Amino acid sequence: MARLQGKAALVTGGSRGIGAAVAKRLAAEGADVAITYVRGQSPAQAVVADIKAEGRKGLAIQADAADGQAVQAAVDRAAAEFGRLDILVNNAGVFIMAPVDGDPLAAYDATFAVNVRGLYAASLAAAKHMGEGGRIIQIGSVNADRVPMPGGAVYAASKAAVQALTRGLARDLGPRGITVNDVQPGPVDTDMNPESGPFADLLKSTMAIQRYARAEEIAALVAYLASPEAAMVTGAAISIDGGFLA
Ligand SMILES: NC(=O)c1ccc[n+]([C@@H]2O[C@H](COP(=O)([O-])OP(=O)(O)OC[C@H]3O[C@@H](n4cnc5c(N)ncnc54)[C@H](OP(=O)(O)O)[C@@H]3O)[C@@H](O)[C@H]2O)c1
Repeated sequence: MARLQGKAALVTGGSRGIGAAVAKRLAAEGADVAITYVRGQSPAQAVVADIKAEGRKGLAIQADAADGQAVQAAVDRAAAEFGRLDILVNNAGVFIMAPVDGDPLAAYDATFAVNVRGLYAASLAAAKHMGEGGRIIQIGSVNADRVPMPGGAVYAASKAAVQALTRGLARDLGPRGITVNDVQPGPVDTDMNPESGPFADLLKSTMAIQRYARAEEIAALVAYLASPEAAMVTGAAISIDGGFLA
């Protein structure tokens, strides 16, 4: 597979979970790949080693998505190291339960800082480096369209904002040949939402295919959207959820 030969990518939150699987898949398809992380330097370096094992350039940058300037500096650094930037995957995200009788406004601020503002800051910075064929891929969530339990309002609202930003950015950047899409996973077995966790039985009961996705299954869809074949897909929210929304 070399659909992405000669391309350069940045995956935010690429040290674990979906982001790590995406970073490795893009490298396997030929791209040089930078990742960002916050706390996990050693898992980040392990992902970089896997990228290099594919014969590609790899780079790990510590950059908190809640800090717009840090995110934009990470985008600029990836573009400078690779000499170009073709693909941005905005994967960094947080899930904070926000029960109405807790401190939901604190949860709102912390969630929106990463899931929405950080994603928007990265998109704007990346677009400056991109030309025809550029790809911005957001990792949203099916919770933008369905909230299956109490306490999920804030997270769901942040992912609905991702949908709206995706549509608007697709309009902004379409004339330059840059596509912008929103991949909306259902339950995926990661540290954020382990298949052995407290929500698993409830979530699986809502699905047509009653299992969690593997991060690699999400990465396969991202790789398609990043490829030249997907040039006419833009402004889309594409669910990959085992029928969670069916
Ligand atoms: N898992 C699911 O069921 C599911 C379903 C739908 C959507 N999603 C979305 O998919 C994305 C990835 O989720 P995941 O399940 O793979 O999460 P995860 O297992 O918690 O991994 C999160 C990754 O993002 C990094 N990260 C966390 N906060 C960050 C920040 N402020 N700035 C930069 N990087 C940050 C982490 O790095 P450090 O270790 O260094 O903090 C880690 O590499 C998120 O946007 C999430 O909302 C997940």
